[in-house]
Amino acid sequence: GYIGSHICVELLGQGYDVTVMDNLANSNEKALRRVEEITGKKLRFYEADIRDRSAYDEIFSQNEIYGVIHMAGLKAVGESVRKPLAYFDNNVSGTIVLLEKMKEHHIKRIIFSSSATVYDLTQGECLTEKSPIGNSTSPYGRTKLVIEQMLADLYHSDARWSIVMLRYFNPIGAHVSGRIGEDPNGEPNNLMPYITQVAVGKREKLNIFGNDYDTPDGTCIRDYIHVMDLAGGHSKAVRKLEEQGLFIYNLGTGQPQSVLAVVHAFEKANGLKINYAIAPRRAGDAPKYYANADKAKTELNWEAERGIEDMCRDSWNWQKNNPEGYR
Ligand code: WQD
Repeated sequence: GYIGSHICVELLGQGYDVTVMDNLANSNEKALRRVEEITGKKLRFYEADIRDRSAYDEIFSQNEIYGVIHMAGLKAVGESVRKPLAYFDNNVSGTIVLLEKMKEHHIKRIIFSSSATVYDLTQGECLTEKSPIGNSTSPYGRTKLVIEQMLADLYHSDARWSIVMLRYFNPIGAHVSGRIGEDPNGEPNNLMPYITQVAVGKREKLNIFGNDYDTPDGTCIRDYIHVMDLAGGHSKAVRKLEEQGLFIYNLGTGQPQSVLAVVHAFEKANGLKINYAIAPRRAGDAPKYYANADKAKTELNWEAERGIEDMCRDSWNWQKNNPEGYR
């Protein structure tokens, strides 16, 4: 997927061997070929579903797996409202199968792709890892919360596990080569891929979901983080797996940006105009939240290095060179 392929580039670049398991429901095998092209390294790929018990026996017996980075989750907020059982089955039941098979094969190191949506977004804007969690606005967010709690219970049942939970804020951008990037199925749910599809002429205009929020320019505020900075955070988290324990980190920049600020930054970075209209608010959107990322800086020696201009330029470079994504 989008984030996983960028993590592969980072890890292969750091000299790790990488084995990928993906059911290709929300990704394209071509991305893995591009990862190999960018890095000049080979990776091993198994097309399999996170719930397929036999696939783990094959993968874990054919490869010496040090640890697992678990990115396999359905992630569309709106879709999760329409299909809650599919989300709990894939995300939660899938994680249970993964953890059971890891345990069976004596693999007890895992990094879990969590999300800022586990925080109670009605109780704060600048979020630390100690900020209240819960009150998710979607089944998607609730699956992330349940998995976090399941991992905590697993650790408390067996302290030999090394578990790192990374709470992503808003990943955008693409590898500087423009060879890999975000390629959503159908109409994009998220802001940046919608902007780039307007820029490339695939969409007529961007609808900004509300400009009457209690923020300086009326549009919602988020913490956008470059996907390669996010990948760097995972590389540091792999080092953390050397320690047994349960660790939770925000991966964000700590730099809040409004929707309009992102649109204007995109226009400025790329010298083009984005056609947009103000539309009604989207249900479930919180007005403002962003990361306090001090803990990752202190404990992982990691911090985001790229700014909003880099994110806008790299997103456009990907979309401009791949108007139909990987298709
Ligand atoms: C950002 C802002 C929208 C699209 C979600 C998930 C989170 C993670 C990232 C999975 C909001 C506005 C958007 C558009 C718009 N996903 N917007 N017009 O909602 O902060 O987070 O995606 O891990 O878990 O919750 O991201 O990009 O959808 O929206 O005005 O066409 O852009 O209202 O204010 P969000 P987003």
